[in-house]
Amino acid sequence: MKDFLWWHDGVIYQIYPRSFMDTNGDGIGDLEGIISKLDYLQDLGVDAIWLSPVYPSPDVDFGYDVADYRAIDPKFGSMRDFDKLLVQAHKRNIHIIMDLVLNHTSDQHPWFQESKKSRDNKYRDYYIWKDPKPNGAPPNNWLSIFGGSGWEFDQGTGQYYFHHFFKEQPDLNWRNPEVRKEMLDVFRFWLEKGVDGFRLDVFSAYFKDAEFRDDPKKWVGLRKYDRLIHEYDADRPEMIPLLKEIRVLLNGYPERYVVGETFMATFEKAALYCGDDLLHAAFSFEDFINGHWQAAKFRKAIKTWEKTLEDKCWPNYVLNNHDVKRSATRYRDDENDERSKVAAAMLLTLRGTPFMYYGEEIGMREGKFKKSEILDPVGIFYWPFYKGRDGCRTPMQWNASENAGFSSAAPWLPVNPDYVKRNVEEQMREEGSLFNFYKKLLKLRKDHPALMRGDLEMATVVPGNSLIYFRCLPEEQAMIALNFSSEPKKIDLVKNGAANCEVALSSKLKPNRNYDEQYVLDGNEAAIFILKSSAVA
Ligand code: GLC
Repeated sequence: MKDFLWWHDGVIYQIYPRSFMDTNGDGIGDLEGIISKLDYLQDLGVDAIWLSPVYPSPDVDFGYDVADYRAIDPKFGSMRDFDKLLVQAHKRNIHIIMDLVLNHTSDQHPWFQESKKSRDNKYRDYYIWKDPKPNGAPPNNWLSIFGGSGWEFDQGTGQYYFHHFFKEQPDLNWRNPEVRKEMLDVFRFWLEKGVDGFRLDVFSAYFKDAEFRDDPKKWVGLRKYDRLIHEYDADRPEMIPLLKEIRVLLNGYPERYVVGETFMATFEKAALYCGDDLLHAAFSFEDFINGHWQAAKFRKAIKTWEKTLEDKCWPNYVLNNHDVKRSATRYRDDENDERSKVAAAMLLTLRGTPFMYYGEEIGMREGKFKKSEILDPVGIFYWPFYKGRDGCRTPMQWNASENAGFSSAAPWLPVNPDYVKRNVEEQMREEGSLFNFYKKLLKLRKDHPALMRGDLEMATVVPGNSLIYFRCLPEEQAMIALNFSSEPKKIDLVKNGAANCEVALSSKLKPNRNYDEQYVLDGNEAAIFILKSSAVA
């Protein structure tokens, strides 16, 4: 039997440090703030924290433009605070995963500062510099996903450099062995400190075509960027041997985990990068992060993900992160959080590592901003078509006091005004809250190995707009039934081979307890059953 490690069984909670908890009164969250909330996280029941970048950064892309990979930005604290966080988290069995942003650096990174000094600078080749075309135009048609050309002309040296994101985020030249070595040393630095793993930012874009061929065009796509087929500016074959090298390095330390953010990922593309000698997991955001509130869509996504990954790696699921509209808003949930409960039950009972995002447990809604308030440069560029990512990054809503208990000062981004009612303290008190449902779900997973480790089987007899699946171990089986509609649905327990089952948890405070051959699932109800005998159809 397979060895199950912490990241098979565990739940990973993403913290966007700027917005989690501020202890020094500057309106920006900090490491001390995270430390002060470790008991909260332990009590909630998560097993790991993925820390969005805390390295020194000029914050053009709020931490995703790194100026030093081996230090902590003073606005978040010091390396001593980080060491303390690690010790305190480990004491509570909470693992720490670092976000490594290695496709590009900040333009303030000393390497880039050197690199742009002259064509023969020692660091010139750390980045992707190219001559203009004879007419002065950029070397090829590659674009920046954040808008405009991917090439920025440098007057001083008469060449262009490439940037997939903002021009303040020059892409590194991973074909340069020096860069490769520097970056593997960055992994080593954090591994030696004792961190438990990494999330690799847009890893599949590290390598670009060696011949710098133009990306082919296509006719459909909202943005200019979408009207290119990104054949040559990402997903190059050189990534596979690099991942193997990274994995060998990680294997030198016990139980380390690496998950990649696949750039422009389909399920197939993400799966390509996972395996016993590659990444442990890679995100594919299809349907779960982009999709609609429809059982059929989720069923298809789950089946595709399971099938595409085969057995070569452990799946992962995620509803929220710092780049997308919050799920409660996406799913147009009412203030009663019914849909968020169904989504939570699905996230936490599928086969795979669930990733949560701060505030998801209280159903934080997307913040709304006027044009003049937007801080995310992508929102400024694409306004009014796209308002950027500030909405999912508003401060954590701890309580009903000023600034939601996040900070004694005005927060860097305004708190969502609904904090007066929607906050942790309030939801802790209220028995039927989303927070308490998350907590019960997280506990149920821990109490029932089938929910963490069991195989996944889709049920055969399923009413419309609902999802039913089983998680099966030889010694225990669970059935999960999720109603995506507001109408009640009858589940045929006999035909599903689940006649002998018991509701272990429902999203309704008073679930139907009186059932025999069928269970009537209320509108928007999520129910988890434990089967008393091994009777799965
Ligand atoms: C990833 C991050 C995003 C960032 C981008 C550039 O997609 O999740 O926040 O802007 O990479 O680093």
